[in-house]
Order: sequence, then C-alpha cells, then structure tokens
Amino acid sequence: MSQNLDKAREYERIHAPEITDEERPAFHLTPYVGWMNDPNGFSYYKGEYHMFYQYYPYDTHWGPMHWGHAKSADMYKWEFLPTAIAPDIQTDKEGCFSGSAITMPDGRQALIYTGCELETKEDGTPLAIQPDGNPFWTQTQNLAIGDGVDYEKADCNPIINEFHLPEGNSRFDFRDPKVVQAADGTYRCYAVNRNKEGLGAFLQFVSKDLRTWEFKSVMAESHGELGRMWECPDFFELDGKYVLLASAQDMLAEDLEYHTGNGTFLMIGSYDDETGVFTRESDQAIDYGIDFYAPQTVETPDGRRVMIGWMQNWDAVNLRTNACKWYGQMSIPRELFLRDGRLCQVPSREIENMWADKVTADSVQVADGSVTIPGVSGRRVDMTVKVHAGENGKASYDLFGVRFAEKDSLHSEVEFRPSEGTVKIDRKFSGTRRAIVHQRRAAVAGEDGAITLRIILDRFSAEIFINDGEKAMSMTLITEQEADGISFYAKGEAEFDVVKYNLV
Ligand code: FRU
Repeated sequence: MSQNLDKAREYERIHAPEITDEERPAFHLTPYVGWMNDPNGFSYYKGEYHMFYQYYPYDTHWGPMHWGHAKSADMYKWEFLPTAIAPDIQTDKEGCFSGSAITMPDGRQALIYTGCELETKEDGTPLAIQPDGNPFWTQTQNLAIGDGVDYEKADCNPIINEFHLPEGNSRFDFRDPKVVQAADGTYRCYAVNRNKEGLGAFLQFVSKDLRTWEFKSVMAESHGELGRMWECPDFFELDGKYVLLASAQDMLAEDLEYHTGNGTFLMIGSYDDETGVFTRESDQAIDYGIDFYAPQTVETPDGRRVMIGWMQNWDAVNLRTNACKWYGQMSIPRELFLRDGRLCQVPSREIENMWADKVTADSVQVADGSVTIPGVSGRRVDMTVKVHAGENGKASYDLFGVRFAEKDSLHSEVEFRPSEGTVKIDRKFSGTRRAIVHQRRAAVAGEDGAITLRIILDRFSAEIFINDGEKAMSMTLITEQEADGISFYAKGEAEFDVVKYNLV
C-alpha cells in the first residue's frame, strides 16, 4: 500500500468516528470524513452496490483528490469502506479525478479514473498557466485493479492520453472516463474533453482488454449553447432510445430549462454503433433544483437504470462555516425511464423498505390560508401530495404550496402556480445567512390545478419529484433538526390527498 493511501486510511479510522449518525443524513451517502464531490465507480459488484466518490479526507474543502468508497445492498443504507485510491503515481500525483468501475472477466474490479499531473518544461516551469495563475495539469485516464476493498494501480498507466485525442483538443481538460462493456465483450470508454473551440466534447474510445485503447468518435459537442467545458459523461440505452448525459460548466440560463453556472443536461437520440455516431433528437436538464451535479448511472441486476448525483452546487461550496465535520452528499438513487419523449425519474423502489408510520388524509381542503395534518411532520419523510383538478379544466386556486423543515420563522417550501405553469422551490427562510441561490423554478403544465408532488426529506435536504417523475428538483438544507413541521397553504381554494411515511 502506498504511503498516501495508508495515511488516508489511518486518518479516517481515527476521525470518522467523531461524526455521529445523527449528524449525517440517514440515507444519503456523505463522506466518511472531510469532503466529497462527484459519484465515481457506481457499480454492482459481487452482489452489492459500490459507490466511490471524489474525496479529500483531511478537510471539508476540496483538496488533492482520493477516491472514497462505500457499499450498499439497496443504495440507501451505505457502509463505509476504506479509501480506495490515493494520488501516488507519476500520472496522478496531483489527484485522482472522477471515473468509473467495471467487473473484469477474471472477477476482479477495474477502476478507470482521471489522473492529474503537473508537466513542466525543460526549465522546470509549468507547461501552461491558467488565466487565474495556477498551472494547468495534464489529464490522462488510468487503471487500478482490485477486489472490492483494495486496489492497485496498473503498470501500464496512463491507458489513454493526449495522443489518443483528435488534433487540437486539450490535454489539460480531458477527464471522467465512464467505461462499459458492449454485447460483443469489447469495452467502450466515454470521456469529456475541451475541443479546438474551447468547448465541451463527448468522446468515445474502444478497447479489447481495458489497457490498450483507440479513439472511435466524437459523440456530441457544445456549440456554445450547453455551457463550455463538459464533465462526467454517461451513455446508455433506455426504453428503445439512447441517452447521453453530462454536466456543463459556465452555462447561460435558457428559459426555465437551464440555469446559470454549473448544470446538468442530457440528450435523447439514436446511435449507430458501427460509426460511433450519436444523433441528438432533444435535450433537457436532468434536475431543475439548486443542488445537483455530475450524476452517474448503474444498471441494476433486474435491468433498471438508476442514477445518483452529487447533491451540491460548485458555486456555493466555499460559503460556509468551518463547524461542519463533513461536506457534500449524494442524491437518493433515482430510477430513470422515458415518457412522452422526455427522461423521467422517481426514487428507486428500495425506498419502500424504509417506509413506516403511514398517515393518509383524503380531500383535505385549504382556502386562503394554511393547514396542518395530524401525524404529518418530520425530517426523514416520503410524502406524496396530490392536488385535485378544478371544475371545467380550470384551477380553483392561484397557488398551492407545501412548507417543510418548519418552526417559528424557519421553513422551506415548494409551490405550484397553475396559471403560470411553474413549480418553485424556495429555501430563503431555511436559516441560511449567505446570499446564494435560494429559489429555482421549473416549467410544469397543469392549468386545471392537478399536480402531484412527492417530497423526500432527509435531515439536510429536500428532493421533490413532480407528476410521477416528470421533473425533479433538489436542494440541500442547513435548517436545525428541531424544525420538523409540515403545512399546506393556498391562495384560492385547493383540495388535496396526502400519503406520508417516515423513513427509518
Ligand atoms: C466535476 C469535476 C470532474 C472532476 C472532479 C474533480 O464536479 O470537476 O470533472 O473529475 O470534479 O474533483
């Protein structure tokens, strides 16, 4: 074991127990200790789900990247495993960036990840300098092989580097390999890269043995409309179509579809495996909330496509006090499917194993005010609220909303305005003291006032699923745990049904 890996494992062994279970979400994965960003190597291996993640154990801020590791039977209850890999070879000296995991023919597990290296000129100065004065790191794709706990870097690293790239593309922005095995047994690697125009490109490489790779095709590129550099690619077949997804830096807002900053997008289309050409038919955001980035998917043994994202937002990560013992959390696992030409997502069905204390209320009425329902409160909750349609296709209310994490002046909310066709999430009264994004809206039709809101709460977050998966909106919350009230409000007259479970 390398010194750096040994040191990380020793550090987490000592310091992770300082974080109590109550200080973490109950069923969202957080770092063992310190900092977490992107999900990595989301996979099913030897009968269990494995999740690795971008990890810096020594601080709650981003630092030289390691891969943290956890496993789970159901993707909700996670068990921590020791740090999987640390920066310790020439090509990953500055950090082990995002990547994926795949089972090898001999039963071992391969991790394919981006290594960052500072290359210098003959005089010892960096090869290139970024506009902010920091040196550029060369990014290459690397291989580590292991048994589900311990991994060793392969002796053939890097396995994909600048010499595999189309001419003129950047060796400094080339990362986040997602490796899958095709039906014929060969391997495909999807990776993102900055092209000649300085914009994001989605590339495919092919290999027979995971060690020797060839460039195959450019599957998609930004023409300036979907941000600049792309990150964290994924590609899979779903319900007879192909879905290409990635995250984008420096996006410009576009209606209510895409927001400014770092965002997620996906393209639905067709794919020709002979040529490696993907033909895009439509695109959409993946999550319309505030905190969601860099999602990765896995295929479950029963054939479902499940996605988990980093439930955080790069623009806000440094605005916090140093009191927290961990920073960064994953979303819940979400089952993906296509409906009416759009990607939809719902909480993975394993959540039902945590259901307890069922409360139902039918045809509850609220008019120009708010109501509470006996037994409906809590901060670890799965609650579905179904608002009824008005008569003659017209809503009987101007707005309807649900407040949660509520106590005295504290609350967060989700609100639907049928005439505007928007759902808004809002956390400005969540106890935050920073001027970051606290509200976001998504376009949702429902002029007749009918809407279904499924709200998942887990101590430090809210994930809202609208109309059986049509859109998802996620946000983190720092609200004190004693704020556990839930109430329903309307302007006009609304009638709704509620089914609520505690999640245990
Ligand atoms: C996305 C990302 C990846 C990179 C990693 C570094 O959030 O920037 O592109 O591999 O984080 O931690």
